[in-house]
Amino acid sequence: MTEPPGPEYVSPEGAPDPDRVVEAVRVLRAGGLVALPTETVYGLAADADNAAAVTRIFEAKGRPSGHPLIVHLRDAGALGGWATEVPNGAAQLAAAFWPGPLTVVLPKTARVLDVVTGGQPTVGLRVPAHPVALAVLRAFGGGLAAPSANRFQGVSPTTAAHVREELGAVVDLILDGGPCAVGVESTIIDFSAGLPRLLRPGGVALEAIEATLGHAVPIAVGAIRASGEHALHYAPSARVELCTGDPGELAEALRRRGDRVAVLSLPDDLASAARELYAQLRAVTADVVVAELPASSKGLGLALRDRLVRAAGPRTESLDANRATGEPAFALE
Ligand code: TXA
Ligand code: MG
Repeated sequence: MTEPPGPEYVSPEGAPDPDRVVEAVRVLRAGGLVALPTETVYGLAADADNAAAVTRIFEAKGRPSGHPLIVHLRDAGALGGWATEVPNGAAQLAAAFWPGPLTVVLPKTARVLDVVTGGQPTVGLRVPAHPVALAVLRAFGGGLAAPSANRFQGVSPTTAAHVREELGAVVDLILDGGPCAVGVESTIIDFSAGLPRLLRPGGVALEAIEATLGHAVPIAVGAIRASGEHALHYAPSARVELCTGDPGELAEALRRRGDRVAVLSLPDDLASAARELYAQLRAVTADVVVAELPASSKGLGLALRDRLVRAAGPRTESLDANRATGEPAFALE
């Protein structure tokens, strides 16, 4: 099934350029790295069956080996090659949310390389909902291992320009698919240890997943920790200070201490806030950026709060305050 993408995959930015897709497949088959747009964030893709190519991803990102990568597939029909077992719940979620911002963690087949999973017996799998990513996946045929296309612990890129600035020198090809529509990474649900659990909040709301499965899904952020993992992730160059309510007061107090202070101004609408979060964090040139946590953990609020807390990292007292309130305190990356 390598038919070209149909009209349903034409994005507001236009259909994928067939020549660029052919070029991307050539680079991938030769063991190269292609940065490509997904609906969540830009990914740094390599042939998941080529150990040398996957190793290059870790080098390009400066990411310690042992951190598992998500394998991107063209459709749910490809799952069988990568997972030994697809529980009903995982099949239900795939049917409901793929292509889309959902990753399922399943027991891996022998095909899946250790370098992809960090030696774990499980693999993260997802079908992205971007016309360019889907066109490349369909033309390529295999799976694409792809983390977010940023340096280790940095802010994920949501435009091709972000990738170019940060990784332009080490990537063989960058495909521009416009700004990412979701703006935060996929929701990760682990099916490998009995009842499903949430490993990372993301673009699909936990409530929507629970409604599809018909039962509650416990939050287990950080339950699986890759070796060499650090608490500081999604971190911009500025220090991030979190607050609830009006950020003006905290910003003023920090200014009085002599810091150059910026205030993150995210829209109230959670989908718009998610779309803008990373670009705003990247743009900060001040010493400190003050960010207001969304009041609610409902819907995308959970992912937004998670990313802000991680961006603040262990550098601030705010994190300890959040830890005390049971907020996710460290990252899976
Ligand atoms: O939206 C996304 O998921 C983006 C786009 C590019 O698809 N990708 C992404 O990849 O965020 P990365 O590598 O930045 O984050 C992948 C996350 C990590 O937290 C990793 O620990 C987790 O997925 N992960 C991958 N495989 C896993 C596994 N077998 N078990 C547990 N966690 C896994
Ligand atoms: Mg990442």
